[in-house]
Amino acid sequence: MSAWHDIAAEADVTVGNPAIARIGGREIGVMRDPRTNDLIAIRNRCPHSGARLCLGTVAQRIEGEVGGDYQLVDRTVVVCPWHGWEFDASTGECIEDPSFRVAAYPVRVEDGRVLVEA
Ligand code: FES
Repeated sequence: MSAWHDIAAEADVTVGNPAIARIGGREIGVMRDPRTNDLIAIRNRCPHSGARLCLGTVAQRIEGEVGGDYQLVDRTVVVCPWHGWEFDASTGECIEDPSFRVAAYPVRVEDGRVLVEA
């Protein structure tokens, strides 16, 4: 059964400064999207080899061919700090291999507090 959990003060979650909490035996991190300023809530464990994913970066997705043209696309990703795999910030789907996924959670702000449903 899911419930809303108070994670942090909204003002404390800034770009590069995630808030991480343990909920029901899982670490969940809330990160700030530098592109939209929205909040992102994901599980703090990379499904590849277990890195603490919320210690990675949040960035606008860059697409293109190796040695070719690159372009920024309308998609935010969380980049794992260990091997650089990228996960869609909204869905948790791994860009490199969609068979991998990290849990993404609903997040909202109420009275200046960040709440996550988990
Ligand atoms: S542990 Fe995250 S990409 Fe390898």
